[in-house]
Amino acid sequence: MTKQQHNELNTDSQTSYQNKPGSPEAPHLESFKQVIESRRSVRRFTDTPIPDEVLKDCLRMAMLAPNASNLQQWEFYVIDSEEVKKKAVKLCLGQNAAKTSSRLIAVVARTDNWREHSKQIIDEYPEKPVPAKVKRYYEKLIPLIYTQDPINALALVKWGFAKAHRTFKGPVVTPYYTQADQVKWALSNTFLAAENLMLALRAYGFDSCPMGGFDEPGMKKLLGLTRHHHIAMMIGAGERAHNGIYNEQFRFDYDQFVKHV
Ligand SMILES: Cc1cc2nc3c(=O)[nH]c(=O)nc-3n(C[C@H](O)[C@H](O)[C@H](O)COP(=O)(O)O)c2cc1C
Repeated sequence: MTKQQHNELNTDSQTSYQNKPGSPEAPHLESFKQVIESRRSVRRFTDTPIPDEVLKDCLRMAMLAPNASNLQQWEFYVIDSEEVKKKAVKLCLGQNAAKTSSRLIAVVARTDNWREHSKQIIDEYPEKPVPAKVKRYYEKLIPLIYTQDPINALALVKWGFAKAHRTFKGPVVTPYYTQADQVKWALSNTFLAAENLMLALRAYGFDSCPMGGFDEPGMKKLLGLTRHHHIAMMIGAGERAHNGIYNEQFRFDYDQFVKHV
């Protein structure tokens, strides 16, 4: 599907669906579309730097991404040091998107901070006194779901319990069984923040390239990360160069992916 065909799926009547009574004022739809539709993976950037305050605001917006139980298991490593950047570019396999970037950022998921963050949520909860059900959620349910052991024995018990519950009593939320599941869970939340970051950069007139093509063990070592840190992606960001886009954007047909059931 070409970009034009994709755009033709848009209707002109969308604004009539906005500004429903009782909802917060709808953001400007055209601006939103412009941000989404003009975002591209940009592989070459100019020398124009991204100012600190712009980057800070973009990272703030990244962290407004939805995330499971608001545990905020993400971190953003902005590579400021020229020396570290040189090594990081090499670990990004010398990709132009890394080499020419004004900012190179590792977007990282953490699997070891859920307990600390649960406590922090209770400490910083905006409503005082903290509602009992909120305390119960973070003090009882979250540990039940997230506690793991090195050999995944607990995962087996939780898996058996969930299966029995599902069979005899009905639907039950799947607790994150194994350590690998925990990683997947933290990463999926972190990917949402990464997308927010890239869109925020676009809204400021800058661009980005998500990179999965890098040497993860090497990058973790360079950034001093532990086995509990998982790099979701590297993001190169900056001002789009005239030759920064390598090909026209296209997607497969809409109907290939959307199923009404
Ligand atoms: C998880 C992930 C990893 C990616 N890794 C790379 C990469 O290593 N190098 C690169 O040039 N582009 C990378 N991309 C960008 C994709 O190639 C790009 O999003 C896709 O071709 C669609 O193009 P568009 O983003 O311009 O719409 C990656 C994208 C994602 C989401």
